[in-house]
Amino acid sequence: MTKIAISGTGIFVPPDTISNYELVDSFNEYARRHNARFAKEIAAGSVHPLLKSSDEFIVKASGIRRRHVTVKKGMLDPDIMCPRLPERSDETLSLMGEIAVNAARNALASAHRTPADIDGVIVAASVVQRFYPAVAIEVQDALGIRGFAFDLLAACSSATFGIQAAADMIAQGHARAILAINPEICSSHLNLRDRETHFIFGDAATACVLEPARAADGDNAWEIVSTRLESRYSNNIRNNFGPLNRFAPETVAAPDKLIVQKGRKVFKEVVPMVSNFMLEHLAANGIASSTLKRLWLHQANINMNNLIAKKVLGREPSALDSPNILEEFGNTSSSGSIIAFHQFSSDLVPGDIGHLCSFGAGYTAGSVILRKHGSSRSREE
Ligand code: COA
Repeated sequence: MTKIAISGTGIFVPPDTISNYELVDSFNEYARRHNARFAKEIAAGSVHPLLKSSDEFIVKASGIRRRHVTVKKGMLDPDIMCPRLPERSDETLSLMGEIAVNAARNALASAHRTPADIDGVIVAASVVQRFYPAVAIEVQDALGIRGFAFDLLAACSSATFGIQAAADMIAQGHARAILAINPEICSSHLNLRDRETHFIFGDAATACVLEPARAADGDNAWEIVSTRLESRYSNNIRNNFGPLNRFAPETVAAPDKLIVQKGRKVFKEVVPMVSNFMLEHLAANGIASSTLKRLWLHQANINMNNLIAKKVLGREPSALDSPNILEEFGNTSSSGSIIAFHQFSSDLVPGDIGHLCSFGAGYTAGSVILRKHGSSRSREE
């Protein structure tokens, strides 16, 4: 079987940021206005008052201090609490397409590849801007790539699901190289009026170039030792937005059309599911977790990540054992583990083994065991 490599990665980070302080001030003003507006109902007990949010809670519960956002306008206005951007014409590159193209160009440069070297584009993300034509085909066109393109949805695990799909297609000879791209505009499904979740998400886009390891020429190329995916149905993280909403116009703007989660249940169920999944995948490949040089985990929240890392490594993880990007980016859905990989992998040396793992709504989990490319043994094939 042909060995496949991630031969380059790229990220795109929107320049605008929102700090916890800005987010909390805006939420608390929204809550104050809500409570004033419904003062009578609150006094009568028919409406619950909204409680204040706080930076201290957010940092303690999630490790997040700020997040980058694609469109800041509107998000902090207590009367709007949503990004606001005029619709683009059909002839203009879509917003999701635009951030995908930016990340893809950086990944191509890192892999020392041009669009002419690529045969396929997968846009894998937690939401898509529209259903057709696929955003991936728009990206393919914008980059001038011949071949095929399609969108893939697997929530926070979209990147690893995209990596496995791309690796399998290349190994089967269906493409010379594939771009797997994750444009995550999480602010589109974030509920800024919900105290429990308003701090979770940030926006970013990431991209990986995949190709046969023997051809990989990037400065930080990683061979895929093995990939494994798992899904188990759960309603604990859910978003009911979709085209069928118009069948019931009376509930079209209800809060369940944005992210709704039972955070404590998610924590309790996903930590054992993912740590066992990672350990079983390592064992199936004869790799002791003590030999791992790094974990690049989905960036969900600091407590969950540290606990999973501790269970997998069998010790308290150091900052470099399992790097965290939550403080700066928040949860960027499927982009999170790829940002961690992109930012914290070039210091490792050929032959080093690291473990990329995503997890999220569905539930979904995706595991990619990687070996740094470049040793004489690994170049043989
Ligand atoms: N500001 C201040 N206080 C808040 C708050 C906010 N924004 N949101 C909740 N609180 C309060 C709650 O009301 C509660 O108060 P109480 O003890 O008086 O009842 C207290 O903080 C604890 O709330 P709880 O929801 O139990 O917090 P938690 O410690 O479980 O943390 C999550 C909440 C969501 C951060 C945590 O459960 C979690 O990380 N879950 C995993 C979710 C996840 O990562 N999902 C994505 C997976 S891909």
